[in-house]
Amino acid sequence: MKNMLVTGGCGFIGTNFIRYLLKESDFSGRVINVDKLTYAGNPKNLFDIERDFPDRYIFVKADICDREGIARIFNDYEIDAVCHFAAESHVDRSIVSPDAFIQTNIIGTFNLLESAKSNQYRVQLFYHISTDEVFGSLGKEGFFTEETPYRPNSPYSASKAASDHLVRAYYKTYGLPVIISNCSNNYGPYQFPEKLIPLIILNALEGKPLPVYGDGRYVRDWLYVRDHCIAIWELIKNGKTGNMYNIGGNNEVENIDLVKMICDILDGLQKPKDNKSRRELIAFVKDRPGHDRRYAIDSTKLKKDLGWVPDESLKTGIHKTVKWYLDNQEWIGRVKSGEYRSWVKEHYG
Ligand code: NAD
Ligand code: DAU
Repeated sequence: MKNMLVTGGCGFIGTNFIRYLLKESDFSGRVINVDKLTYAGNPKNLFDIERDFPDRYIFVKADICDREGIARIFNDYEIDAVCHFAAESHVDRSIVSPDAFIQTNIIGTFNLLESAKSNQYRVQLFYHISTDEVFGSLGKEGFFTEETPYRPNSPYSASKAASDHLVRAYYKTYGLPVIISNCSNNYGPYQFPEKLIPLIILNALEGKPLPVYGDGRYVRDWLYVRDHCIAIWELIKNGKTGNMYNIGGNNEVENIDLVKMICDILDGLQKPKDNKSRRELIAFVKDRPGHDRRYAIDSTKLKKDLGWVPDESLKTGIHKTVKWYLDNQEWIGRVKSGEYRSWVKEHYG
């Protein structure tokens, strides 16, 4: 693979993936990062990469919903592999305004598939990043496997499910070499502070209420983002085309316990001004409509086929994450002030 198109590379997981690919992995080709730079995309995440890998990293501001623009990129950069992260990714936003989710997640994926199909003589792999949310919700017992039927419950997960089906159909119908992976909740550096973990860290630092939806007993299976990136790279190299793989951290925890854990780690690293435990900031708030009770992933297939296991436990991963946010106040300031949004306008139109 010489020219890998990475979509959504300025978002949370995409940023971590490009950093891993160029700085740590054995990939030797070029990355063409295509990102629309929505509120969630921050090109400054990759400034050092742009500086340190001038021949191997190219950024193109483009919308995956622009069919002709995407087709041009496939030709101009002779794309031979696609790693597709770009999406609207926040469940709460999808409940309030689903339109962008339908456009980007479904139509955008369709456009990429069409371009990949047109260049099928060259495209060796279309790797589609998806979510465990397509499987719906679990009760107290059991795990999602690759055979679990799709039962998405939010506009976000329904749009991701639709895109998964399209990717699968392009394999079955046109023989496009595809891989789909469905991953559990990621956390780590560069995550936009609308998602639970960075939101709690930032609010706790500012002494603001820590909103916990409903009774707080919802369960997520957390995976440190670098472990996800390693799994993706291993699958790009050694996964079987036409296959789906589940990726999870085996780190189930109830939201309320996770929030308490973050409070305690923060208290240990940076004493609260009033000496009161940050746990006192926890506020139970109105629940998310259609809130999935529990997610848990069975990643046996990935472990068996590729020997992948996550490096980080929840404890070590959360500790690293809290420290990253403490050490990256400038990033937080920019993201929160909207300064980088105006900077994006100035630099990329
Ligand atoms: P994110 O919201 O942080 O980043 C999304 C990126 O996509 C941003 O840079 C944004 O500018 C870009 N983008 C959005 N619309 C676009 C468009 N029309 N054209 C081009 N670029 C566009 O998301 P994330 O958390 O990094 O998630 C990345 C992928 O991983 C998504 O497909 C998501 O469904 C999937 N996923 C996320 C998680 C998680 O816990 N975050 C877990 C499993 C799967
Ligand atoms: O499971 C994978 C999915 O994980 C990804 O596909 C999504 O892109 C990603 O956003 C994430 O979805 P969740 O809805 O699980 O993540 P979020 O961080 O929004 O919420 C995690 C849990 O915390 C969920 O049960 C809702 C709850 N929550 C969330 C927020 C933002 C709260 O209790 N309070 C909050 O303020």
